[in-house]
Amino acid sequence: MHFTVALIFTSLLSSLASATALPKREASTVWESPFTGTIVTPTADQAVPFGADVPFEYDVSAWCEPAFSPFTVYLTAGQNPPVFDNVTDSGALADGAFVLEFGKFVVSRFGLPLPGPPPPSTLTMPTLEELNLDPTSDFNFFITVLEEFDGCPGDVGVEYSLTSVGIDLVSV
Ligand SMILES: *[C@@H]1O[C@H](CO)[C@@H](O)[C@H](O)[C@H]1NC(C)=O
Repeated sequence: MHFTVALIFTSLLSSLASATALPKREASTVWESPFTGTIVTPTADQAVPFGADVPFEYDVSAWCEPAFSPFTVYLTAGQNPPVFDNVTDSGALADGAFVLEFGKFVVSRFGLPLPGPPPPSTLTMPTLEELNLDPTSDFNFFITVLEEFDGCPGDVGVEYSLTSVGIDLVSV
């Protein structure tokens, strides 16, 4: 009898311990991952000509060991990069928070067949004309990656991370 009680108590303690080891989560319908991957290239403030191909590499975070790491790549324009508030509950950046979507790509972590296209090794920048931005405004440009994490601990079905790097789009 005592044995059973002790067992329950021990498992209670260990589940408490693992619960407190989990990152704190804000009350929100869109869950933010405690970790984000890293944009390796382009690098911060790299000069990139309008219309040119720029090498692209993103290291996924995959902190909770999912089989697949899907992520969407955007070009955003504004004073600052997009914020997590701009992620919709369908896992995309809100309309108006980006100027171009390069696509959604996926990395397979255990050699399983890819459920989607692998990330490209280059991104093709739009031309200034294609961007059609207000010429009187001054924009900073960012490459932004929205990574999706499926089946992470903490009873959250899916969570997202957002990371950006500023690039210097230049006329040629
Ligand atoms: C992005 O989020 C910020 C902060 O909540 C908000 O001010 C801004 O309007 C949002 N932008 C878009 C396009 O939703």
